Amino acid sequence: TGPDVGANSASGTGAASGPTTVSVDELRTPEDVPGPRRQFTLRAGTESVTLASGDTVQSWNYGSLPGPELRVQQGDVVEVHLENVDVEAGVTIHWHGYDVPNGEDGVAGVTQDAVLPGESFDYRFVADQPGSYWYHTHQNASRGVQRGLYGTLIVEPSGGIAEQHDVVVPLHSIGDSVLLGASDLPTTMRIPAGESVRLRLINTDGLPNTFHLDGTPFAVVAADGYELAEPPPVSAQSIRIPAGGRIDVAFTMPEGPVYLTTDASRTPWIAFAPGAAASAAQLGRAPDRSGEPELDLLGYGGGPAAVLPDGPLVRAEMVLDRNPRFLQGVPVNGYTVNGAVYPRIPSITVNEGDVVLLSVANRGWETHPMHVHGHHVLVLSRNGVAASGAETWLDTFDVRPGEVWEVAVVADNPGIWMDHCHNLDHAAEGMMMAMHYR
Ligand code: C2O
Ligand code: CU
Repeated sequence: TGPDVGANSASGTGAASGPTTVSVDELRTPEDVPGPRRQFTLRAGTESVTLASGDTVQSWNYGSLPGPELRVQQGDVVEVHLENVDVEAGVTIHWHGYDVPNGEDGVAGVTQDAVLPGESFDYRFVADQPGSYWYHTHQNASRGVQRGLYGTLIVEPSGGIAEQHDVVVPLHSIGDSVLLGASDLPTTMRIPAGESVRLRLINTDGLPNTFHLDGTPFAVVAADGYELAEPPPVSAQSIRIPAGGRIDVAFTMPEGPVYLTTDASRTPWIAFAPGAAASAAQLGRAPDRSGEPELDLLGYGGGPAAVLPDGPLVRAEMVLDRNPRFLQGVPVNGYTVNGAVYPRIPSITVNEGDVVLLSVANRGWETHPMHVHGHHVLVLSRNGVAASGAETWLDTFDVRPGEVWEVAVVADNPGIWMDHCHNLDHAAEGMMMAMHYR
């Protein structure tokens, strides 16, 4: 179970603190039988944090760096009371990858106002989708997330987790430091040989990061929260995760050590030791795997090509670029979608039940990790090559320079949803648009 979170962290059916935004009767679909209420309080504030290395960073966070791990069971009614102590820029909580009702999405200026110092806001949703997610501020996000306004959200499946050990590993850069979990130093974790392990790799950075797992064969079991029905054969030790993305891997602890490393510069790493707890120094340095081939979830060729879901088809297009020039007399110096910067980008309106066939083309020279709110996308093809692995439903996908992705979105969650680049500096400079599902 996760750590205690402030005064109201107890699970159970106690009285809610503060106003709620929606009654249980109004939650999602009628099939959802609300489970027990799980209440958390997150207090956002500014803090000078001393890291394991002794380095100090000026952080904004939800009470700790990273924020507390919120761990709930599938079916729970999650109630989170957010208070802003002293973050002058304001805060919200966006549930990254979680397809919550629109009013709970935490987008300042769209689904709610920013929560200013002394104010509070209550979020409530049914945790109906198991998997690995994270949360972060969506007010002044490029600064706020980088400084530490993030944490992880783990929804355990109603049938329980298959593995004996469940290790959550967010990777984050803050200032000149890199955190793997909560530490900026190499750490060791003891796991008896023969026991099963799930690693939830979560990239909370603004750039893609590559993780390497060494010392054991492993399986890729979930992407962006969704269990893969047919895990791809693993032919590489390296897994690249887009900014905002999550990959879960599973392995059985061998007789020797297992190393989790990343390509992030100055990075810490984690050694899993089968025997008596050895220090990271005793286990020795993890092998350097930088630059090795990466696993490709889309192109492994197992199984039939992805099929477009049924429903009235609507075509939409996002052309991503960077345009330091004049457009129709208006100076545009930013990251553009269809030639314009947010909020000048016309939104796309579709009806509930429509299937949006979205083509995303990158005409620029930087990678854009595109993130969709409130929905997952089914990847159909990349550069004209059909996705042929397991059905891959993602909420964040790296569109590299020159690439064209075709994805499908089933409009089943009404509201105004933001789609944007999760390099949050790019989003702040315009690469963000609204989708209106009515
Ligand atoms: Cu994780 Cu709109 O963001
Ligand atoms: Cu971008």
